[in-house]
Amino acid sequence: MQILTCSPHAGGSTETIASLVAERTAVSGVPAHIVQLRNHLIRPCTGCGYCAVHQDHCTLDGHGDSAQALLQSIRESDLTLFVIPVYFYGPPALFKGLIDRAQRYWGLLDRQRGRDAPRRPALAILCAARTRGERLFEANLLILRCFLDLLGFRLQPPLLLRGIETPADIVANSHVLSSLQDMSDQAIHLIRGTTHV
Ligand SMILES: Cc1cc2nc3c(=O)[nH]c(=O)nc-3n(C[C@H](O)[C@H](O)[C@H](O)COP(=O)(O)O)c2cc1C
Repeated sequence: MQILTCSPHAGGSTETIASLVAERTAVSGVPAHIVQLRNHLIRPCTGCGYCAVHQDHCTLDGHGDSAQALLQSIRESDLTLFVIPVYFYGPPALFKGLIDRAQRYWGLLDRQRGRDAPRRPALAILCAARTRGERLFEANLLILRCFLDLLGFRLQPPLLLRGIETPADIVANSHVLSSLQDMSDQAIHLIRGTTHV
């Protein structure tokens, strides 16, 4: 299992959530590998069209760029949990940069798309400072589902955390901690194959 932290903020809410989930899954014998996107170079897609002609190849690969390896690790992992903070109603630019680089699969996975195509489960926890707003997570979820669909995944019901400005709002809130425990349990069940989706 891998946990992808999608914030550029070192030691912030996202990384706190990831650590808490990893601690809980480890206790149950399911180690989680935390991947911090902020430690990776992800050049922005320029829409050059090269991947449309040369499937699964991108002119930005190599030279220290991590997008290909990160996308591959998501596709190959037994389970990925995305932890994403809301930045201006969307994902942080860092994560959107990785999502855009998945354009390389647009042609490659064409045959696999469609309503009946099998999808593997993926998990997500989103956090935002605001406590209100019906549409607070809407853009993030739309983008995430579109990205996961392209990679052959289906997002399981996400955990949406409001009122999370800093890590203190996580560790001091028993409801948040309990919902993180539930998400950890769900990850363990999925890894062990005891949850059918
Ligand atoms: C650039 C930026 C934009 C943000 N935009 C929103 C927003 O639109 N709505 C919201 O509720 N919180 C917003 N926040 C607050 C973060 O979602 C919140 O503080 C979160 O816990 C930050 O997680 P992190 O420390 O892991 O980055 C924003 C924070 C930043 C830095």
